[in-house]
Amino acid sequence: MKQRVTLVEVGPRDGLQNEAVQVPTATKIALIERLADCGVPVIEAGSFVSPKWVPQMADSGAVLAGIRRKPGVRYPVLVPNLYGFEQALAAGVDEVSVFTAASEAFNRRNINASTEQSLQRFAPVIARAKTAGMRVRGYVSTVLGCPYQGAVPLADVVSVAVKLTALGCDEISLGDTVGVGTPLAARAMLRAVAAEIPMAQLAVHFHDTYGQALANIYACLEEGVSIVDASVAGLGGCPYAQGASGNVSSEDLVYQLHGLGLETGIDLEALSATARWINAELRRMPASRLARLPPRAAA
Ligand code: HMG
Ligand code: MG
Repeated sequence: MKQRVTLVEVGPRDGLQNEAVQVPTATKIALIERLADCGVPVIEAGSFVSPKWVPQMADSGAVLAGIRRKPGVRYPVLVPNLYGFEQALAAGVDEVSVFTAASEAFNRRNINASTEQSLQRFAPVIARAKTAGMRVRGYVSTVLGCPYQGAVPLADVVSVAVKLTALGCDEISLGDTVGVGTPLAARAMLRAVAAEIPMAQLAVHFHDTYGQALANIYACLEEGVSIVDASVAGLGGCPYAQGASGNVSSEDLVYQLHGLGLETGIDLEALSATARWINAELRRMPASRLARLPPRAAA
């Protein structure tokens, strides 16, 4: 296993995008600032997508303008097309992520495009981002199964990841959007992609629908991955993957990583407190194990 693991916190985007009631901009800003104060190195801060498709992210410009940026912390956002990229640029963003899926059926519903069309859309976005000196992440969704298509061939996952890398993505996040994966499948998937793209450029992104996320991550850590996406308090789901639960919770993941003797730079006690705070703000029952424990036991 790699000694140092980079946690990419996706709660303010992947987590909140699924909340039915509009979360106040001030709460989103406070969440991002709290996460940075916990020592989280990368915080996905918003999404410049169509507000008709994902209304919850309509205030991402205001969120990005409102946050106090902590030196050394990265604040990437999702962009689906050039329009979204320009909006992000105007909001002072310096890192972006494009997103597509290994499943055609999922892309049709999530971004109203075929996989090939989505890659064509991204080509100018990635080129513009690179000219602006930005880092670009590429998401591949449905890597272990699709809610519409069912099984997703490994070859399709590898092919999309390779194409995104060829377009200029610095990092590929492999997403089990529905949370259907189990450890051996997760490991086989990561191994297949890592045969084509250096492991240092790969991240894993697990949703916890069937309670498999931490086991899947452990299998991937053993395989050598060192970038893991997670969501504080296990917030979220995916609006285009019905029934998909939140991402693996950041605090449960950090508990595991520290228990394995791996470094994250994150203060677990502060992170657990942040999970309890956001649960209270959203009047949400705690989804993570640590947020259910009394404060001292969760440290
Ligand atoms: P479209 O409707 O097919 O295409 O949307 P369009 O380009 O014709 O645009 C329609 C309208 O949206 C137009 O406005 C555009 O101006 C506007 P109108 O003329 O009707 O008034 N529009 C925009 N507005 C703001 N920002 C933009 C933008 N682009 C167009 N960037 C589109 C295509 C891709 C835009 C749409 O399908 C969309 O926004 N989809 C977003 C879906 C999404 O955000 N899904 C969740 C994120 S992915 C995820 O969660 C998975 C992940 O976590 C990994 C995993 O778990 O696997 C990353
Ligand atoms: Mg996700």
